[in-house]
Amino acid sequence: MEQFVSVRPYKVGSHTISPPVVLAPMADITNGSFRRLVKKIGCPGLLVTELISTTALHHGSKRSMEMFDITPDQHPLAVQLFGSDADFMAEAARMAVGEGADIIDINMGCWVPKVCKTGAGAAMMRDEDTACRVTAAVVRAVKAPVTVKMRAGWDYGHLATAGLAARLEQEGAAAFALHARYAVQGHTGNADWRLIAGIKAATTCPVIGNGDIHTPLDAARMMQETGCDGVMIGRAAIGNPWLIRDTCCYLQTGLLPDSPSLAERIEAAMEHLCDLAGVMGEERAVRHLRGQLPYYIKGAAGAARLRERIVQAWNIEQVCALLNELL
Ligand SMILES: Cc1cc2nc3c(=O)[nH]c(=O)nc-3n(C[C@H](O)[C@H](O)[C@H](O)COP(=O)(O)O)c2cc1C
Repeated sequence: MEQFVSVRPYKVGSHTISPPVVLAPMADITNGSFRRLVKKIGCPGLLVTELISTTALHHGSKRSMEMFDITPDQHPLAVQLFGSDADFMAEAARMAVGEGADIIDINMGCWVPKVCKTGAGAAMMRDEDTACRVTAAVVRAVKAPVTVKMRAGWDYGHLATAGLAARLEQEGAAAFALHARYAVQGHTGNADWRLIAGIKAATTCPVIGNGDIHTPLDAARMMQETGCDGVMIGRAAIGNPWLIRDTCCYLQTGLLPDSPSLAERIEAAMEHLCDLAGVMGEERAVRHLRGQLPYYIKGAAGAARLRERIVQAWNIEQVCALLNELL
C-alpha cells in the first residue's frame, strides 16, 4: 500500500480549499446536478463547472446561462470559461460572479478542434500573448481569484507550462491546474506526472495535479511524487462520487471508508437523474444521462447486460425499473 500523506488545505485568494481535492471540469458531466451530488456524497474542497463559452454568453445564449446552475450547496465553486476574446472573457467573468461563482477558471486545456480553431482552450498553449491578455482582462474584471487549467503544451517537445505559468502569475493568476498531457494527446497515452513537479517549481501559486487518478492511493502518490498542492479527479469520478469521498478521507486520515452498497449506488443514480430532470425536463435529462447512469452500477452482477437497455430508456420510470432489476 502507498504511504499515506497528511495533506494541508491550499488557498485560492480568500478561499480555503479543504480537503485539497477538486472535481475536474467535464463538459456534459459536471453540470449543477452532478456537482450537487458530488458535494453531498464526496465533499471535495472545490467543484468546477463544465466549460462555458464566453462567445455564447455574450450573444445571450439561454443554454449557456443555464450552465451556471449555481445553488448554495456548491461552494466553493469555480466557473470555467473559455474564449480568446479578452472583452468577452471579462464580461462573462462578471456574469459568473454575479451568478455566485467564487473563482473564475480559464480553460487553456481543451484540445477539441471546435474550441481550438477559435484560438481558445489549448490553442493558448502556443499563443502565450493571447493567454496573458485574456488572463489579465479577467483578473481586472472581477475581484474573485482567477485560476488557469492547462495542458503541458501543444505538442511533444514544446513544453509550455513552466514559462507560461510564470507569465500568467505576473498577470495575476492565483492557481494552476495541470492536466499532465500535451494537447495533441487528447486523452491517449499516460499523464506524465513529472510535468506537474515542473510547473510547481516554476510558480509560487498553488498547483493542482490532474491526470489518471483512479484511486485514492493514486492521489496520494501524485502528491508525494510531484509536491502538488491539490489533486483534481475527472473521469474516474463519473458515476462514482464515492471516489471523491474516499480520496478526501484517505488523504486526511489514511483510512478508506466502506464501499457503497448496490442500493446506495442505485439511489445516487436516481437522485442524479431526478435532479437533472428538475433542471432540464424529464425527456432531455434521460437522454443526457443514459450513457452515464451505467457507471453507477459498474461491476455489479448483470450490469453489463442492463447497460444496453438503460441507454435506450426514455423516461425516469423505465430507468428506475431497470436499475432495480439488479437488486
Ligand atoms: C467527457 C470529458 C469532458 C471534459 N471537459 C472538460 C472541460 O469542460 N474543461 C476542462 O478543462 N477539461 C475537461 N476535460 C478534461 C478533464 O477535466 C481532465 O483534465 C482529464 O479528463 C484528465 O483527468 P482524469 O484522468 O482524472 O480524467 C474533460 C474530460 C472528459 C473525459
